[in-house]
Amino acid sequence: MKLVSSKEMLETARKEGYAVGQFNINNMEWIKAVLTAAEQAKSPVILGVSEGAAKYMTGYKTVVAMVEGMLDFYNITVPVSIHLDHGTYEGAKACIEAGFSSVMFDGSHYSIEENVEKTADIVKFANERGISVEAEVGSIGGEEDGVIGGGEVADPKECKLIADLGITMLAAGIGNIHGKYPDNWTGLRLDVLKTIQDITGNMPLVLHGGTGIPDEMVREAISLGVSKINVNTECQLVFSAATRKYIEDEKDLKGKGFDPRKLLAPGTQAIADTVLEKMTLFGSINRA
Ligand code: 13P
Repeated sequence: MKLVSSKEMLETARKEGYAVGQFNINNMEWIKAVLTAAEQAKSPVILGVSEGAAKYMTGYKTVVAMVEGMLDFYNITVPVSIHLDHGTYEGAKACIEAGFSSVMFDGSHYSIEENVEKTADIVKFANERGISVEAEVGSIGGEEDGVIGGGEVADPKECKLIADLGITMLAAGIGNIHGKYPDNWTGLRLDVLKTIQDITGNMPLVLHGGTGIPDEMVREAISLGVSKINVNTECQLVFSAATRKYIEDEKDLKGKGFDPRKLLAPGTQAIADTVLEKMTLFGSINRA
């Protein structure tokens, strides 16, 4: 299967009442874990790539080549999209040129006028090439790859302005935060989510900060129109815990346990297990 844009998978998810997971990738092990889990689950999947992670993986073209190579190697049959996460204006254009099938342009830190203007420009550039576009209104809290958001709650009227630009999916701040949620977090503003969905019609909505949101709240958000949920930190946490255990159990000191193929295997499996768990929660299993 070739890479596909996120459009069809999200419109179907929106219609049928489930969400597709976006799992952020960091290296070969991450891509392997997410793709094999998606194939096993017969679930569509979105591979999220931040600009920082792309730099770490030596550029957008390397990411595309690595993913395409693996689609072929594993004979992946489920729909897979490579999506720029929280892209800049320049980054979004560069990703489209490098072969990404989907991009997010995050203009939430600009004035609404500038966000509208830049988003419209990216939509035009992307649409001519069949690439899906995610836009954002109201910044997501927390820090991700140096992009810091204050955790705003989006203004539904501004959401409507951006939704009408021909984007594929809309991320709106509803009190969600990247990374772990603080103990005093009061939960998602599902009332605002509902207003945003009502005002934007059938627009697939995106829930960022998927790590640590209680399952019940996730299900409710899906029932209110969330069709894409982003998960990053949780995969990093399970990867590091499994790798830590391997070393604390001194498995690297036995036989050829120091071989990176062995050393990184438990962490890779932990990512795949988490992806499967999330796909089950999001309802995307057996939808491909
Ligand atoms: P978490 O790191 O909180 O899972 O959020 C991921 C995300 O929203 C990526 O855009």
